[in-house]
Amino acid sequence: MEMRPVLVAICLLLVTPITGSFWTVGSQVVMDPLLVCKKTRRLRGKLADICRKEPSLLKEISKGVQVGTRECQHQFRNRRWNCTTVRRSLRKVLLRDTRETGFLNAITAAGVTYAVTRACTMGDLVECSCEKMNSRGHKLGKHSRKSRIKDLPTEGEWEWGGCGDNVNFGFRKSRDFMDAPYRKRSDIKTLVKLHNNDAGRLAVRNFMRTECKCHGLSGSCTVRTCWRKMPSFREIGNRLKESFDGAAKVIPSNDGHNFIPEGSTIKPPGRFDLIYSEDSPDFCRANRKTGSLGTLGRQCNATSPGVEGCELLCCGRGYDTKIVKEKVNCQCRFKWCCEVTCNTCNVKRTVNTCR
Ligand SMILES: *[C@@H]1O[C@H](CO)[C@@H](O)[C@H](O)[C@H]1NC(C)=O
Ligand SMILES: *[C@@H]1O[C@H](CO)[C@@H](O)[C@H](O)[C@H]1NC(C)=O
Repeated sequence: MEMRPVLVAICLLLVTPITGSFWTVGSQVVMDPLLVCKKTRRLRGKLADICRKEPSLLKEISKGVQVGTRECQHQFRNRRWNCTTVRRSLRKVLLRDTRETGFLNAITAAGVTYAVTRACTMGDLVECSCEKMNSRGHKLGKHSRKSRIKDLPTEGEWEWGGCGDNVNFGFRKSRDFMDAPYRKRSDIKTLVKLHNNDAGRLAVRNFMRTECKCHGLSGSCTVRTCWRKMPSFREIGNRLKESFDGAAKVIPSNDGHNFIPEGSTIKPPGRFDLIYSEDSPDFCRANRKTGSLGTLGRQCNATSPGVEGCELLCCGRGYDTKIVKEKVNCQCRFKWCCEVTCNTCNVKRTVNTCR
């Protein structure tokens, strides 16, 4: 057994960048906000303004798309459709109007809201800063309005302070950039897209929480300072995944300017719900038409009855089993500062892959 140092912390945060973002411009799927700007050069309005005048905001928008994509891949890692960014597949998924399309749109809009808001809090954008509230909980400045915050401290003295997340700015910029090209259209796919984009943004804004810090003698907490903070992006992803599971199918209303749930007994979808108008393919086999890559070669869990189980993931085709030997770090010890030394252990692992 050999001893070897393993660099921790920062290294773990270096994730491979995912290049990919997506807007449908006409019948094209554009993969990158910068490309959206190029393709829509002749457009006027808010989207064009951001493209021309706000390069640092554009960069945060790109980051937001990556945050959204990465979370999508986490949420769907064990499912037949795993939110792949393989271009030819993603393209097809985005040109349709299935549950998967809805989730992608929602999580992307949420990611952009999140990243832009974070950038405001961190002071990375000149256009915005963190949210300042006055002592009664009203926002300072021209957008002052009575807040409807439910999780305020109930005991002791406290006041607003610190640096809160300015989610309304992020919300607005996500809308300006992602929805602007669609605002004037009223076909069903566009209506569904705009609805799901908003549902994604609301998954950020409506679950803000109040965080407080104690002051006073040795943490006695006689006075507290409180501010508003976004949930973690994982929480947002979890929430949207739940909406995906309960998504409602809709059809155009008679006047064609709205949508109604398919089937008269289903209650109308609310603002937080995800919706779709086309049924999903089963994603079992590779199919150019639907963008399905199929599940051949995917790893599955032989004992699980769920979506990640071999039965469902492999669509009943069966699976191959092999034992692989792996070296893993074990008996790790932390050494000041900032190294961890580990031993290397050999372990055997069973790997099942779909036929
Ligand atoms: C997603 O699935 C495809 C095949 O269906 C596979 O090639 C790819 O490695 C998977 N991606 C991830 C991140 O698991
Ligand atoms: C496989 O599924 C079973 C049952 O759901 C679970 O207990 C087990 O931890 C899973 N194995 C892996 C490697 O995820």
